[in-house]
Formats: sequence, C-alpha cells, structure tokens
Amino acid sequence: MKKNQKKIIAPSILSADFGKLAEEIKEVQDAGADWIHCDVMDGVFVPNITIGPVIVKAARKATKLPLDVHLMIIDPDRYLEDFRRAGADVITVHQEACPHLHRTLTKIKELGAKAGVSINPSTPISALNEVFGVADLILVMTVNPGFGGQKFIDKCREKISDLRDLKKKHGYKFIIEVDGGVSEKNIKDLSNLGAEAFVAGSAIFGSDSYEKIIAKMRKEVTK
Ligand code: DX5
Ligand code: ZN
Repeated sequence: MKKNQKKIIAPSILSADFGKLAEEIKEVQDAGADWIHCDVMDGVFVPNITIGPVIVKAARKATKLPLDVHLMIIDPDRYLEDFRRAGADVITVHQEACPHLHRTLTKIKELGAKAGVSINPSTPISALNEVFGVADLILVMTVNPGFGGQKFIDKCREKISDLRDLKKKHGYKFIIEVDGGVSEKNIKDLSNLGAEAFVAGSAIFGSDSYEKIIAKMRKEVTK
C-alpha cells in the first residue's frame, strides 16, 4: 500500500442478515465500505460452517466493491478456481491449512486475484518468512477464527507492528489486514500499529446506522 493511500474498511457479512444479504451489502456499500469481506468456513479447519462459492456469487451480483474472500478451510487449493470464478478479488488462505503455501499463493495470483495469507493468533509471523515477497496481503487474526463477536486478543497487536517494520525494512508490498474484534474503539490503535485494512463484522452489522459507524471508523483511521 502506497503512502497516504486510503485505509480499507471491510465489513464482514458473517454478521449480516443472510435473509436479505444483497440489501445488506448494498447498504454497507452506500455507507462507505471499501471491500466486502466473505468468511468461508468448512466445519473442519474451524468449528463453524458458513458459505461457499454460491453465496460469493450472489454477493458479486450485489456490489461492484472488491470481494475479500477469507478461506477458513483445509486444502483450499481445491476451491481456488471456484471462488475466483464466483467473483473473489482477494483470496486469503490460512498458513496453517497450506503445506505448500508458496504454490497456493502463486496459484491465486495466476487466477488473477490478490493472494492473501492469514495466521491464527497462535501462529508467529515468522511462519510467513518465505512468502513475504509473494503475498499481496497478510491477514492477522486477532481472534481464533470461527465466529463473529469474539473478544480481541491483545497479544496479537505486536504482530501488526512487526509486519509494518518488516515492510519498511525490506520494501515488501503486502497489505496488512486485521480481523476479529475490530471496532470503532480499537481501530485507531490498530491503524497506528500499521494495519491498513480492517475487517469488522459485529461492530458494523450490529450497529443502528451503518453510515454512522463506518464514518466513525474512517475518521479514526484518517490522520
Ligand atoms: C472470524 C471471521 C471474521 C468475523 C469477525 O473467524 O474471520 O471475519 O466476521 O467478526 P467480528 O468483527 O464480530 O469479530
Ligand atoms: Zn474473516
């Protein structure tokens, strides 16, 4: 991300009303969202089961905004093409689910999407040493993935500043994204630590006014 580039606010549809998903997506789009974050869970890598390519395709029809697809599934290589075809612009896999991470990220790029890699709270950033130059985005999980509305894990904060320092030192281009327990209360701190993209589910979809909450978050991250 270039200096002074606008920070990215990505509402997670996990906390949206799936009975009116298209409307919910349009509403956060009109309220100023930058990306739409789609959480894909398989009941194996994480305890919960959510959506697949069919719903991502429906989300694609509802908005022109980039779809930020977070795959919390084992062996994601099997589904990369399906999610790309469904309209994913960013595809993020988990380091813990990819024994051949370099190959997986390369494949995502070949498909024409931005290649993201995520780490769970218990995974150190050193697990990504060999792919820092390949990944377009690093997603730091600040809760254990699986559910919306969980408490932010404070210990993960240092990973964000460590990533920022690595970017500076080596000129890496990846975007630093955070996901889990992000709200208007801690977004400024996360931004100051170096986060550039912010996923928020319950904080946005649980609020009375999407416009007000997104504007508030935007103000917090705009210097
Ligand atoms: C959690 C998901 C998140 C989730 C965040 O496993 O990856 O994207 O929607 O929800 P909140 O913002 O409520 O913590
Ligand atoms: Zn997510």
